[in-house]
Amino acid sequence: MKLLVTGGAGYIGSVVAAQLVEAGHQVTVLDDLSTGHADAVPAGARFVEGSVTEAADVLPGMDGVLHFAAKSLVGESVEKPGRYWAHNLGGTLALLDAMRSAEVGRIVFSSTAATYGEPERSPILETDPTRPANPYGASKLAVDTALSTFAGLYGLAAVSLRYFNVGGAYTGEDGRVYRERHTVETHLIPNVLAVALGGRDSVSVFGTDYPTSDGTCVRDYIHVADLARAHLLALDACSAGEHKIYNLGNGTGFSVQEVLSVCREVTGHEIPAVMCERRAGDPAVLVASAEKIQRELGWKPEHPSVRDIVADAWAALPR
Ligand code: UFG
Repeated sequence: MKLLVTGGAGYIGSVVAAQLVEAGHQVTVLDDLSTGHADAVPAGARFVEGSVTEAADVLPGMDGVLHFAAKSLVGESVEKPGRYWAHNLGGTLALLDAMRSAEVGRIVFSSTAATYGEPERSPILETDPTRPANPYGASKLAVDTALSTFAGLYGLAAVSLRYFNVGGAYTGEDGRVYRERHTVETHLIPNVLAVALGGRDSVSVFGTDYPTSDGTCVRDYIHVADLARAHLLALDACSAGEHKIYNLGNGTGFSVQEVLSVCREVTGHEIPAVMCERRAGDPAVLVASAEKIQRELGWKPEHPSVRDIVADAWAALPR
């Protein structure tokens, strides 16, 4: 297929673009490089520098879109909500309009566990209430809602994948390594590994009084290679007039302390940790039920262990 990957110079988008090229698709990456890196675009893909609002120029002749381009910092979204509504919802609406004009009827969208907010139960099912606790999650949920509307009204074929906590690195068939490298890094695993690498003295543990086994937050970590593979399955599962939503996690929770121990084991570094106050807006436990995507799309993780995720992220870091 001829496919447009928006945000394909970012961490997840570049891994999906690489897997699409490897699967024989013709891939065009559209990325404004606001947070992505031009050198993350896979060798076999065409790269166009530009924002999603310029998608009309590249859409003619495409068979589908994989849409990653977005603002994704929860804290920033609380301080600057307008930016999140404009980029994430406004940008996607512009993209959907351009898709209609160019008669491109298929989209796979990068949604998030943040659409659920504080869950009532664990693991979270796709049918559970969506009550996002921040503008980031709200803007992604608004896109999910728009996709449902566009599917019903215009026959769009859409799939939303709701990511839980993505980590690890991907080594392409050509040996190239794709890894997480955010200029502003808020995520746990890269922050912990930065200490082991010597870039920071200690890592902060945000909150030790949660109602969990050791008092720290529990999350469902998924390997970026497994996550990316789900996009290829989702692309094939797109069906005109339908919007399908799938959680993407492993269905198992690990606490911040457990992740820290795995990182200490993998790196052999003591990784000093400083116990801090809770970070605003963090739910105690976020674990996916991945039963639906396993059942309907036949998705199965190849690297379900946090050890693999941490080991691959660690091996990919430049020293
Ligand atoms: N944490 C720390 N120290 C750090 C970084 C994180 O203790 O330096 C803790 C957080 O408080 C949280 C856990 O580690 O309890 C995981 O935090 P991340 O920032 O790695 O991930 P989140 O669970 O906050 O965020 C992920 C996605 C978001 C998405 C969110 C859904 O990265 O895009 O899940 O709630 F919005």
